[in-house]
Parts: sequence; structure tokens; C-alpha cells
Amino acid sequence: MHAPGPVWVMGAGLIGTYVGGRLAAAGVDVRFIGRASFGERVAQGLRLSDLDGGRWSVPRLNWHTELPPADPAPALVLLCVKSAATASAAAQLQARLPQGGVVLSLQNGVDNAAQAQQAAPGLQVLPGMVPFNVAQPEAQRLHQGTSGTLMAADAPALRPWVPVFGAAGLPLQLRPDMLAVQWAKLLLNLNNPVNALSGRPLRAQLLDRDWRACTAALMEEALQVLQAAGQPVARLTPLPPRLLPALLRAPTPVFRVLAARMLRIDDEARSSMADDLAQGRPPEIDALCGAVVRLGRTVGRPTPRNQAMVEALSASPLPSRSALAWRQHLTG
Ligand SMILES: NC(=O)c1ccc[n+]([C@@H]2O[C@H](COP(=O)([O-])OP(=O)(O)OC[C@H]3O[C@@H](n4cnc5c(N)ncnc54)[C@H](OP(=O)(O)O)[C@@H]3O)[C@@H](O)[C@H]2O)c1
Repeated sequence: MHAPGPVWVMGAGLIGTYVGGRLAAAGVDVRFIGRASFGERVAQGLRLSDLDGGRWSVPRLNWHTELPPADPAPALVLLCVKSAATASAAAQLQARLPQGGVVLSLQNGVDNAAQAQQAAPGLQVLPGMVPFNVAQPEAQRLHQGTSGTLMAADAPALRPWVPVFGAAGLPLQLRPDMLAVQWAKLLLNLNNPVNALSGRPLRAQLLDRDWRACTAALMEEALQVLQAAGQPVARLTPLPPRLLPALLRAPTPVFRVLAARMLRIDDEARSSMADDLAQGRPPEIDALCGAVVRLGRTVGRPTPRNQAMVEALSASPLPSRSALAWRQHLTG
């Protein structure tokens, strides 16, 4: 396996350090640009694990708290900041990298690559999608707690990277329909605010039918808006997206059996939105439910459920309601 050149991870937190760490463990030259506080925990000995029992370690990460000199220039930049930091991170990259530098956004939501492209018109920004969850169960260990395949736009600049990611054990699937893929991921991410409100680990929350009904209500509203907008949604799970709300509303014993075939989640998985709130950082709600609300406006459809989540997650402290009360609040 031969990487076309160095990789930079811009915004090395959970996702960036996990994906970059897996590449580094496979021998790729990776530079991590992140906060000193995060680097202190991982840079002198990072351990990585996944739900299949995979274990990797990287004795020393090439960690930077500021952008390093672009000599040698990175052959690929993984943009891994949260949505609120996209424009400023992209502008920093634009100021440092040569014209045409390739940036792959590994962020959630449907707007981040376009926002980064706008802030960095001299670079080539491509959308990607990370289907799995990464948590930090111990200071020096990052854990991939759910399954799924990395996806990115099928652009010539990314094709040489497919064998590199494959050799690192993180297959990269290039897709011609990335917007449909991103909307499909966004639909699944509509569980994030629900998980954050529940205060429970992902698996425990998903095994509660009332919390699942809240997610189903948000998804149903989003699917209606997407249909009205004529926006296709890719199928990332064995069940097509339009059937996901029904799956979520199924009685828990039925859900448990059906969902086990769709998405494997272990006990360590948490939504990153819950982590943000726990650490007093603003949650990424505008990129998720906010995107549904904005699309609703463009097609003249009200989206009161997703709007309610934008308001709830923007409030401090979070509104405190039981799962049943939230279910009733969202579905009337
Ligand atoms: N975590 C997951 O399981 C998961 C799964 C799939 C997709 N995603 C998506 O991946 C993206 C990243 O999520 P994450 O959980 O990895 O976030 P994260 O842990 O917060 O990592 C981002 C890091 O980048 C830092 N940062 C922000 N601006 C920077 C800059 N200009 N220079 C250097 N560092 C900067 C942040 O610091 P500050 O906090 O100080 O800003 C933070 O430490 C999000 O869009 C998220 O939705 C996450």
C-alpha cells in the first residue's frame, strides 16, 4: 500500500483522531491539527479499538496545535471539526495550502462541504460520510462503537486513496450520490438530539420505545420534506429509509431482533451530541434538525418537530421531560 502523500487531520478530535489514527497505524504519514488539551491525552500513545475486537496502537502522533508549514504539502486533508467551526477551519487551510489542495469533509450534516468550499474557494472540498460512532472510553483510547463503511464523493482526487483506506481496515466507498448518502446519514442522526435529551447511552436509549418514537417522529417529518423537495435518500441500511420510522415504533422485542441485523452498537457507544452537552460545548443541532427546518421552508412545509428539537437543544439547561412526555410533545 502506497499513500500518495501525507495526510493532515484538521480538527483532530474523536473522528479525526480515530480515522487518522487508523491510517497512521497502517504506516501513513499523518499530521494531526487539534487542541492541546486533546493532544495531551492521545499524542504520546494512542490506542484504538472497534466493536469486532480490533486493537491498534500508535506510539506517537505527529500533533500540532497550529497548522504546520505546508512543506511537504498534504496530499489529503481530512476536515473533522464540528459544523460551527467549518468556515474558520477551511479559511485557515485556504491560507496555508497550495491551490487545488484536496480536502475531504468527514462531518455530519449536508452543508459542511459546501460551506468549507465557500470559505476556501482555492481548494477542492469533497463531501464524505462517517457512518460509525467514536467515543473515548479512556483518556488514551478511542473506540469505534458501531459498524458501517466510510463513504465519499466519487472524485478522481479520491480514487488513489481507496486502497490506502482499505489497507488500514477502513474501506472507503466512493459514491456518485453523496447528497443522498448525507441525507440518509442525517436521518439516522436525528436520533442524536433524542439521545442527548435522554441522558442515556445509545444502546439503552434505543431499547426504550418512547425515546425511539421521538426519533421516528423527527424522521417521518424529515422524510415528508425530502419527498416534497424531490431529494433522493440513499439506502444505508437493509431497510429502506421510508420504513425506518415503523421499525423504531415497533415493540422493543421486535425492534431488538430487526435492528440487530441493521446496526451493531456496543455498550460504549454514545452520541457525540451528548458528549458536547456534557462538556458544555454547543451541540451540532443546526446542521441536523436545522437542515430539515431549512429544507421545509424551501418547499413551504412546516417542520414543528425538528424545530422543537432545535429549540430544546439550544436551551440551557436542557428542558427536562420524560421519554413519554417528549413523545407526546412531538406527536401531539
Ligand atoms: N463522534 C462521532 O461519533 C461522530 C460520528 C460520525 C460523524 N461525526 C461528525 O464528525 C465531525 C467531528 O465530530 P467529533 O465528534 O470528532 O468532534 P470533536 O471531538 O469535537 O473534534 C473536533 C475537534 O476539532 C477542534 N477544532 C475546532 N476548530 C479547530 C481548528 N481551527 N484547529 C484545530 N482544531 C480545531 C475542536 O476543538 P474545540 O472543541 O475547542 O472547538 C475539537 O477538539 C462532526 O461533524 C460530527 O458530527 C462524529
